[in-house]
Amino acid sequence: MRYSRIVGTGGYLPEKVLTNHDLERMVDTSDEWIRSRTGITQRHIAADHEMASDLALHASRKAMEAAGIKAEEIDLIIVATTTPDMIFPSTACILQDKLGARDCPAFDVQAVCSGFIYALATADMFIRAGRCRNALVVGAEVYSRILDWSDRSTCVLFGDGAGAVVLSQSDQPGILSSHLHADGKHSKVLAVPGSICDGKVQGKPFLIMEGNTVFKFAVKILEEVVREALTENNLQASDIDWLIPHQANIRIIQSTAKKLGIPMEKVVVTVDKHGNTSAASIPLALDTAIRDGRIKSGQYVLLEGVGGGFTWGAVLLRW
Ligand code: ACO
Repeated sequence: MRYSRIVGTGGYLPEKVLTNHDLERMVDTSDEWIRSRTGITQRHIAADHEMASDLALHASRKAMEAAGIKAEEIDLIIVATTTPDMIFPSTACILQDKLGARDCPAFDVQAVCSGFIYALATADMFIRAGRCRNALVVGAEVYSRILDWSDRSTCVLFGDGAGAVVLSQSDQPGILSSHLHADGKHSKVLAVPGSICDGKVQGKPFLIMEGNTVFKFAVKILEEVVREALTENNLQASDIDWLIPHQANIRIIQSTAKKLGIPMEKVVVTVDKHGNTSAASIPLALDTAIRDGRIKSGQYVLLEGVGGGFTWGAVLLRW
């Protein structure tokens, strides 16, 4: 059988840190409100010259170094991003050039905060179909560019960053299963309702969100999709060694873990330090737990996330 395995991870956070106390000076908010409602204490913000592809480049180099893979050995690049460098070419093509990788397929996936799950599932299918051997899968975001910094209900929630993995062909799993879903009828609940026409921005190019609706939906469907992954693999929640959720809000993470009966000691949490980095949050959390030695060989790791669309999904893997 042909499988895919993650053989290297990398992460990158821009140098500038914006704390809750910094935000207190920008909008009518408080460190106490942000921490108690979201668990966030700080987030990183890209420098003016840093684009999603620059963040992706740093994270990718670290993942490739960890994997011992050179640019010429990469034969697929998928970048999950909601904040691409430009309308086109894709951030994946720009990243390919910056890496010095040549002549491999490269494309972006747009599934907002579930983007990395979608990208990883897609790369797994390429590898299992025998169409590539070493895929670079990246989540990279500069949400600071699509936030209305005068809107306290959204600007406190997000941060910038990138996470990357090298996924390689293997005769041992690796990825056991992936589960992707979407329901476009919720498209107005969480959106950046802007577009370009005649050289002008149409609509509102800032993130808008019905926070309560997102919260309730997220907790419901994240439990469902995790149970779907467990059922397909004949596993119980107690078999999962590490849950790596999308890092939107500590209360969503805690509620989902509680419903599943997974203790918080088995949940990787980075939202406190990173904020919500959308498609970058899961690979950043994975990289954190790999580099600090928490995740060990042979353990079951479950990645899950939900994002605008709505989109949601899970990937179950054996490390
Ligand atoms: N500081 C202080 N007060 C605030 C702030 C702020 N930053 N933002 C909102 N408030 C106020 C509101 O104006 C409101 O005041 P009012 O009662 O006088 O009208 C009050 O706080 C309560 O507002 P709610 O929106 O009801 O607050 P809630 O407890 O629902 O928390 C939050 C809001 C944190 C956004 C919550 O709904 C949530 O976590 N939603 C999930 C959405 C999420 O995490 N989205 C991330 C993107 S989606 C994704 O990644 C899945």
